[in-house]
Amino acid sequence: MADTTLMDKLVSLCKRRGFVFQSSEIYGGLGSVWDYGPLGVALKKNVKDRWWNAMVQGRDDIEGLDAAILMHPKVWEASGHVAGFTDPLVDCRQCKNRFRADDPRIKGTPGQPDAQCPVCGTRGSLTEARLFNLMFKTFMGPVEESAAVVYLRPETAQGIYVNYLNVLQSSRQRVPFGIAQIGKAFRNEITPGNFIFRTREFEQMEMQFFVQPGTDAEWFERWREWRMEWHRSLGLDPAKLQWHQHTGSELAHYARAAFDIQYQFPFGWQEIEGIHNRGDFDLGRHQEYSGKKLEYFDQAQNQRYLPFIVETSAGADRVTLTLLVDAYREEQVEGETRVVLGLLPSLAPIKAGVFPLVKKDGMPEVATTLYHDLRKQFACFYDESGAIGRRYRRMDEAGTPFGITVDGETLSAGTVTVRHRDTMQQERVGMDRVAEYVKERL
Ligand code: GAP
Repeated sequence: MADTTLMDKLVSLCKRRGFVFQSSEIYGGLGSVWDYGPLGVALKKNVKDRWWNAMVQGRDDIEGLDAAILMHPKVWEASGHVAGFTDPLVDCRQCKNRFRADDPRIKGTPGQPDAQCPVCGTRGSLTEARLFNLMFKTFMGPVEESAAVVYLRPETAQGIYVNYLNVLQSSRQRVPFGIAQIGKAFRNEITPGNFIFRTREFEQMEMQFFVQPGTDAEWFERWREWRMEWHRSLGLDPAKLQWHQHTGSELAHYARAAFDIQYQFPFGWQEIEGIHNRGDFDLGRHQEYSGKKLEYFDQAQNQRYLPFIVETSAGADRVTLTLLVDAYREEQVEGETRVVLGLLPSLAPIKAGVFPLVKKDGMPEVATTLYHDLRKQFACFYDESGAIGRRYRRMDEAGTPFGITVDGETLSAGTVTVRHRDTMQQERVGMDRVAEYVKERL
């Protein structure tokens, strides 16, 4: 299967089965903004729950936080985003399109007569590169003046830094400890694309770990290992995960060291999570700009210091896309193509489909009762329309690991057929045991 075709097929499956829709589609769509449908929202929630369980619930040394999207504008001066969160862009005076200055489709040097617009083909129409800030700006209160400017946060991390003392004092944690948050972030990306890989509105799952200076390199290595292990635990093909180290100019202004976890997408190796050793840059800057002391008093060492920060920053949408890409497969079965999403059962949006074999002989009634009982325990879907084979195929495309069919034997012997998504094998299980049977395999 050609790689571009795979992305096209995935986008189409996501729409057909209700994972992801284009935002404002009936108005022609909004560039690089996507909506999650019934199955997509369930899948992304499973990703976020799994992250939260690993990072907050399962650990004594990390606290949760949900900071507001809107923050004091000085936060973004202190963080460096007002001055430095920019991309160099060029405009075409002819067709009014805008491009990143390093867009490989541009021929010649922007600003020079030889430069050619990649869209309308006009020569000499491209402006010189200008820096363009990626933050979305809006106004707070009724007046649109510069004093009222606020930004939609481009990362969740800053909400953690400015709350670090609040959390430290209220939770009675001691350094080393972490704060984790899941939330929306916004970037006016100029070259967005590849479906939900790079979007203008997305969700981050970020954790900032505060450590004593001098212990940061050791913690950085630990977090690298734990985060890679987490991605492997999602059932991703390990051969498609790799590290990418940031060196030289790639290294962000705040970072002493940075590694990306990359996944091999159909469009190449790309970042799904960044692990950064941020030193004391963030707390130092917020201390300077707010005028508030943000030092930590380490009683054990009788020492005051600004903690260093090790950050783990993953995109919930990117991880969701990674799962979809990794799980998508096509098989030939009896001369027909079977499309399957081989998601880990614990991540699948629906755990079991419940079907009456036919719409008569009391089977729908028994199947409906079973469905109502099972849905109290895990996500289920009831379907009685069409041939049973087609109903199985629909569930295969949704990534549902189990199909439970009520048939003639159910009525006589009290058993149902459980059909397995991956092997398509079927076995008979007592109706009174089927809930446990599924739960054991989740
Ligand atoms: N606080 C550090 C930070 O925000 P980043 O590398 O800019 O670092 C971290 O972003 C993660 O957020 C990325 O690895 C990616 O998963 C996700 N992300 C960033 N920009 C995104 C976008 N435009 N669309 C979707 N996800 C994005």
